[in-house]
Amino acid sequence: MDHHVTLIPGDGIGPEVAAATRLVMDAADVGIQWTECAAGARALETHGALLPETTLDAIRSSRVAIKGPITTPVGTGFRSVNVALRQDLDLFAAVRPAKAHPGVPIRHKTVDLVIIRENTEDLYRGIEFERGSEGAQGLREKLRALGGFELPMDAGITVKPISVSGTERIVRFAFEYAKANGRKKITVGHKANVLRYSDGLFLQTIEREEPFIRGSVDYEAVEIDHLTSRLVKDPGGFDVLLLPNLYGDIMSDLCAGLVGGLGLIPGANIGWEYAVFEPVHGSAPDIAGQGKANPIAMILSGALMLRHLGEHAAAENVEWAVDVVLGDGRVRTPDLGGTSTTMEVGEAIAAAVSHWEHGPS
Ligand code: NAI
Ligand code: MG
Repeated sequence: MDHHVTLIPGDGIGPEVAAATRLVMDAADVGIQWTECAAGARALETHGALLPETTLDAIRSSRVAIKGPITTPVGTGFRSVNVALRQDLDLFAAVRPAKAHPGVPIRHKTVDLVIIRENTEDLYRGIEFERGSEGAQGLREKLRALGGFELPMDAGITVKPISVSGTERIVRFAFEYAKANGRKKITVGHKANVLRYSDGLFLQTIEREEPFIRGSVDYEAVEIDHLTSRLVKDPGGFDVLLLPNLYGDIMSDLCAGLVGGLGLIPGANIGWEYAVFEPVHGSAPDIAGQGKANPIAMILSGALMLRHLGEHAAAENVEWAVDVVLGDGRVRTPDLGGTSTTMEVGEAIAAAVSHWEHGPS
């Protein structure tokens, strides 16, 4: 059966890792029909918008997309395209597996974690008031009237909403995911003792739901600062991490560091109707255009996409091929100590995919 997929190459190293990923997906040979669409800095030049409506329409029509990273200009008026996509398509769950690969040395005996990050609420909801703006001034007055809070005149403000409904759907998703994927434990990270009405509500809602949905999955809740320290010391003690939006973002990069870097961590953004797959890393302007980017994070995102499309054998094939190439060690990008280019890694993995009929050894 043919699968329609929207491909967004993105900015920086995006087009390079996207080309390598497409090569591997085509080698997996499951009849993907690609529609390539623009988003990000290039789209601003060609379409006059960071996230053109035609791109959103393409995703709504194909329902499945895979994207490269997109540069977010810092401290300007632009809303992050990634945040906009997650909110406009209601992609409420981010799933980010971080596991050790053969031939990639890590500091610990073993790492095999999955981060499930709430993707639409929290400080990333996008409710912000610029320092000195009318909105910030109005909010200062409101806060004074409502609770006697005095904010400095020169404060910028970002709001952190976390809801019962938003938490209910992510906790159900997390336990369903754990059960469907043979995972043993869910650890929730929070700061409920300080952020009583946001993280506090997150934790309360989870603890109300969890006894009814956990099945045989273990459950624990740990304060996020303490969790960070435990994770760095002993990642083997964790399985699935369920986190609100901001902590999920930070912990994803931390987990990347545990298994050999950002070049290896794939991601899925899932909602009821749509799914957008993307590597965890950003557009890496420091190495863009040089053929140095590791395409494996995006290729593994492609494997997650294949599984989502019901192409389980092809997904396994791609993951196996990645491990064959990493284990062999001859073809790898500079972030893993090699000298190969992005496309050489893509070609080696695509070639391994085509040898799948010889089976995993
Ligand atoms: P980054 O992830 O782009 O880069 C951090 C470091 O990791 C850099 O040294 C980079 O060279 C390296 N790196 C990242 N991916 C790599 C790969 N595939 N192979 C080899 N090395 C890799 O993070 P940074 O520099 O903070 O962000 C750059 C831009 O990307 C920003 O505009 C940011 O907003 C955006 N960004 C976009 C994301 C997305 O589209 N989902 C996610 C994260 C950041
Ligand atoms: Mg991030």
